Amino acid sequence: MGYLTTDKKKVTAKTLLEMKASGEKITQMTAYDFTTAGIIDAAGIDSILVGDSASNVMAGNQDTTPITIDQMIYHARSVVRACQRCLVVCDMPFGSYQVSREDGIRNAIRIIKETGAGALKMEGGKEIADTVRGIVAAGIPVIGHLGLTPQSIHKFGGYGLRAKDDAEAEKLIEDALALDAAGVSAITLEKVPAALATKVTSMVKAATIGIGAGYGTDGQVLVYADALGMTQGFKPKFLRHFANVNKCMTEGVQEYIKCVKEVSFPSESESY
Ligand code: KIV
Repeated sequence: MGYLTTDKKKVTAKTLLEMKASGEKITQMTAYDFTTAGIIDAAGIDSILVGDSASNVMAGNQDTTPITIDQMIYHARSVVRACQRCLVVCDMPFGSYQVSREDGIRNAIRIIKETGAGALKMEGGKEIADTVRGIVAAGIPVIGHLGLTPQSIHKFGGYGLRAKDDAEAEKLIEDALALDAAGVSAITLEKVPAALATKVTSMVKAATIGIGAGYGTDGQVLVYADALGMTQGFKPKFLRHFANVNKCMTEGVQEYIKCVKEVSFPSESESY
């Protein structure tokens, strides 16, 4: 269950603050299953986010709102089992903290108890600050999430750049300060202007982790299927493909089909 078994120190929410202080960039990538998480952890990532993007990436939903607490627990528990070193962060899904402070704290405790994750992530600013304070007081590290917050997609109506004008930028700063005062360990900044993300980073004690927020944040996060070139036809400006796993898998599957069809697999040596 994620205990330290290598000579490398286990990453915790506290480590993120130490990395901010030392200027070492934080690397985070999503994962939702045991096999993928094991590869990403062994490659040396600092943190795996079990994002509610599992709703899109794993289940093929249009947005993140349908995923349930039980489904997030299933994904996060699988990831925690695979990880030796990195900090596993689990998203609190839509509906698990919006009803009331007590409900949010109860769900947060349940997710931690049943997954073994090292921190939780929650979308929103001032309006969730009191709930965040309660969860942190219960001993659970929290990561905030501002800018493009996909759980509110129906309110915003699209996935465009956020905080483009002065009023929105000012609100984002106020929300970041409210989360910081509530005790978050980090804040994810999604799809906001780079200059604003850099400014927020200098204003908060918490580490900032950007996605589509430029290089001035304390770290970066990407969805693994996007970063590794598995998803086709999704290439926003902020995304870089660091591998072409789609091509690699397609070629592997085609080679398997070919070998089975021509009866070159299994060979004598692959038979009992
Ligand atoms: O759910 C997710 O994958 C996320 C990242 C995009 C930050 O929240």
